[in-house]
Amino acid sequence: MRVIIIGGGGMLGRKLALALGARGEIGGRAVSHLALADIIAPSPVEASFPVTTHRLDITDRAAVDALLAEGATGGAEIIYHLAAIVSAQSESEFDLGMRVNLMGSINVFEAARALGTCPKLVFTSSNAVYGGDIPEMIEDWTALNPQTSYGAEKAAAEMLLTDFSRRGFIDGRGLRLPTISIRPGKPNQAASSFMSSIFREPLQGREAICPVGPDYPHSYLSPRACVENLIHAAEVPAEALGMNRCFALPGRTHLIGDMVEAMRRVAGDAPVGLIRWEPDRSVQKIVLGWKAHFNPAKALALGFVRDDSFEDNIRFFLEDDIER
Ligand SMILES: NC(=O)c1ccc[n+]([C@@H]2O[C@H](COP(=O)([O-])OP(=O)(O)OC[C@H]3O[C@@H](n4cnc5c(N)ncnc54)[C@H](O)[C@@H]3O)[C@@H](O)[C@H]2O)c1
Repeated sequence: MRVIIIGGGGMLGRKLALALGARGEIGGRAVSHLALADIIAPSPVEASFPVTTHRLDITDRAAVDALLAEGATGGAEIIYHLAAIVSAQSESEFDLGMRVNLMGSINVFEAARALGTCPKLVFTSSNAVYGGDIPEMIEDWTALNPQTSYGAEKAAAEMLLTDFSRRGFIDGRGLRLPTISIRPGKPNQAASSFMSSIFREPLQGREAICPVGPDYPHSYLSPRACVENLIHAAEVPAEALGMNRCFALPGRTHLIGDMVEAMRRVAGDAPVGLIRWEPDRSVQKIVLGWKAHFNPAKALALGFVRDDSFEDNIRFFLEDDIER
């Protein structure tokens, strides 16, 4: 079975590629080829099957068509579409966010449709599709009401993913991700970047700034559980998804202050002392509009997973990602 990860050079794309390389199968079927595509060709991962890497700009429709249809990558049965411009950058660079997150997603959906094989297409949406005047507890049926351009672009792509699936062009699965924390590497341009940096940097001996107060509630999912869910998304039978192809993944909601105390329990006082609490209105303007309380009944019934505790999440970072 051929698999392609578009956005395969990003944080989640790379972790997903490593996981597929290690397990070699999805839903009991062996992976025969993995293609990793990104705006800069990603580095390959170790696997018992061929892995190819490709430079691809998803805003170039002809290039997306060519990559999905031709050569080593041709005829992928599972297409992961993870490529995106993240939240704060989509807010500051409206045209770029629209081009990549909406028009680029349409290019991927159309290229998948053009294959004529109704491939599975796993798309990473975001909890940022929710916001504004809606109830505090998000249910599976809560209306999408994004309050950022990023959220609006993801919501629009979701609608099309659902319609392309209804028409039988693709077998779409859209996952609304909570903030993935703790994100390894460098801070990125997501407004939620601090949700990782206030743990990642102190655990690596560096200072970090927290732009919100300790009473800020936030829903998170560890990279490990997220990758498990991305693989599971390609395994769930189409019939089990029903008419709602897009739904929220299970996260866990804690106050930031409680997450910091979880870090203290696992790693001691030193990292906690490296957090500087400095309110930042530009970040707060985006993140205070996000919803924090979810009842992801559909995802849980379909077998998607959440983390057990934030202490676990700190341990996962120490095991998987810390730079020593
Ligand atoms: N990490 C999170 O907290 C989070 C939360 C909600 C949703 N998501 C979604 O999950 C997906 C993956 O997130 P991530 O954290 O790995 O992000 P990331 O920024 O690490 O990866 C995204 C990748 O998309 C690539 N990309 C951007 N423009 C492109 C283009 N024009 N053509 C081809 N590739 C392009 C980037 O180069 C990058 O490698 C994204 O769709 C994101 O919106 C992530």
